[in-house]
Amino acid sequence: MNDTPSHPLVLFMPSGKRGRFPVGTSVLDAARQLGVYVESVCGGRATCGRCQVSVQEGHFAKHGISSAQDHLSPFGPKEERYDRVRGLPEGRRLSCSTQILGDLVIDVPQDTVVNAQVVRKAADERVFERNPAVRMCYVEVEEPDMHKPLGDLDRLLEALKRDWQFERLDIDVHLLPKVQKILRQGEWKVTAAVHHDRAADSARVIALYPGLKNEAYGIACDIGSTTIAMHLSSLLSGRTVASAGTSNPQIRFGEDLMSRVSYVMMNPDGREAMTAAVRDALNSLIDKVCEQGGVSRTDILDSVFVGNPIMHHLFLGIDPTELGGAPFALAVSGAVELKSSDIGLLMNEGTRTYVLPCIAGHVGADAAAAALSEGPHRQDEMMLLVDIGTNAEIVLGNAARVVAASSPTGPAFEGAEISAGQRAAPGAIERVRIDPVSLEPRFRIIGAEQWSDEPGFAEASTATGITGICGSAIIEVVAEMFLAGIISEDGVIDGALAARSPRILQNGRTFSYLLHDGEPRITVTQNDIRAIQLAKAALYAGVKLLMDKQGVDHVDRIGLAGAFGTFIDPKYAMVLGLIPDCDLEKVKAVGNAAGTGARMCLLNRDYRREIEDTVRRIEKIETALEPKFQEHFVAAMALPNKVDHFPQLSRVVTLPERKQSADATADGGARRRRRSRESGGAVPEV
Ligand code: FES
Repeated sequence: MNDTPSHPLVLFMPSGKRGRFPVGTSVLDAARQLGVYVESVCGGRATCGRCQVSVQEGHFAKHGISSAQDHLSPFGPKEERYDRVRGLPEGRRLSCSTQILGDLVIDVPQDTVVNAQVVRKAADERVFERNPAVRMCYVEVEEPDMHKPLGDLDRLLEALKRDWQFERLDIDVHLLPKVQKILRQGEWKVTAAVHHDRAADSARVIALYPGLKNEAYGIACDIGSTTIAMHLSSLLSGRTVASAGTSNPQIRFGEDLMSRVSYVMMNPDGREAMTAAVRDALNSLIDKVCEQGGVSRTDILDSVFVGNPIMHHLFLGIDPTELGGAPFALAVSGAVELKSSDIGLLMNEGTRTYVLPCIAGHVGADAAAAALSEGPHRQDEMMLLVDIGTNAEIVLGNAARVVAASSPTGPAFEGAEISAGQRAAPGAIERVRIDPVSLEPRFRIIGAEQWSDEPGFAEASTATGITGICGSAIIEVVAEMFLAGIISEDGVIDGALAARSPRILQNGRTFSYLLHDGEPRITVTQNDIRAIQLAKAALYAGVKLLMDKQGVDHVDRIGLAGAFGTFIDPKYAMVLGLIPDCDLEKVKAVGNAAGTGARMCLLNRDYRREIEDTVRRIEKIETALEPKFQEHFVAAMALPNKVDHFPQLSRVVTLPERKQSADATADGGARRRRRSRESGGAVPEV
């Protein structure tokens, strides 16, 4: 197959990039020419060990490549020395010191472990191709010479440009007074941390170390209104070495976003206080991840942040008042790049911060990061991405077109506005089932393995008690009440059932369902159901608006982001009509997708360009301005929906018959309902 024997064919995995190279080309050079990112700190001197690769052996018929170890040059003195001094794992080669002799499939491992770095398994083990914005570049600088008046710094920059192909290179001012000392300390051998996010012609030295500095870190952080999550990753291997979270201290100024905006409006120093609070929390988290990972905070050289628009503004020190009302104007929507020290973050003096762009006044950098992580814009299928909080951020699209909106769901899903609602904590009911015949419930609480009707539950629940209902269970209990016939499709608790079950309690003119008879007594009231209906109708109406914009009547795939999305059962979310009908196999919790997106931007600057470009193309829909929102909202108040069908859900769940009017025959009623849906609600004569 190799028709050009002097130019073997080399395929790099996992990128799949391939090309022919003259025999004798180093593997590192071949990778560079193809744009495959292979780390290198020492510049090919076989001392950093970062450029490791391995050979996949065998015949790869699909690619027409027979790849073998001996298609690489044998171990030379440089590799032997590295192996002797530092140890090279079995099967690994140093790509800078290994030449191509024949056809090859080269694996670029994403887990090059050097310096026995502490590795902690992160919750999200997705591996990304790397191309970080900060690179560590080792150089040997010419010593000063009386006959050449060029300054020490100028010779350093020249060496960096020459060895690392930077066209233009500047240096941070804070390093100027230190350059001479560092050069002499390293005996003219130094490692420069070069920030080159946009292009090689705007590179900047941000840190300088004597000798070979073979490690650099970055943090990726999602600033949520309730919690802040941070990951510390090695920029040189991509590994997450520590993760930590904390609650957002701004909660003391207001539980939800709007109350924080109000706090700013009402208090002269409100903005300053909230900015200081979040930055303090971030500095404590930086301490925490550094301690966990055994990393010095000055070794953190890059950082990426995401958050909803209000968190984003407060973090950057911007007054969010404009986001509190129409037209919800963002002070800045594009990506923000700055020096971390400018916003009071304590890392290295030269550390950079990148903040992802916001999509719209209600759809923030967190939604942009989630979109980057889940990639609706990279696929043909129509994907719905929902992050449910007090404001649901919704993105719908595929490679052809992406639209986004937010819906004011309110805090009901977080347990607020629900009589027995509470945050997810030990003792909270998290799963509910209701027997459709006896109407008796059984449930599970956080902190106990058993269901409430299983042996051992009483003992297991004594420590915590049974304290309330958390968000995931609110969805389940209302959906189960609907499936058991306790509530109608309009969400009304059927008082007639009180004759059949002591679980149905009368409270004046309405009824409630007794979920747990204890201390406290846990009931689901008519008002609770109304609050859930309002919240889910707001979300669904937003989704429907986006579906209208896309001209689709179904979605192919649904990603549920955030903590709430992780805990809710998609089946019950669909029974409730919170999300549109979809193959349940294709409805997935995507975890902290915003955090993953932030980590992608930390480890690969190409993702920054991808999301900047995508956000520019995303069409923003302002739900409040759309005349059809109200119509969709009214239809979505019903369970699961007044007009929309759920054929895929019906395959796995038996949805209750829709109630017929008293005078309709079975057949006539069916025809009438069918036609009423088709005609948008107006019931024609039959
Ligand atoms: S580039 Fe440093 S060892 Fe190969």
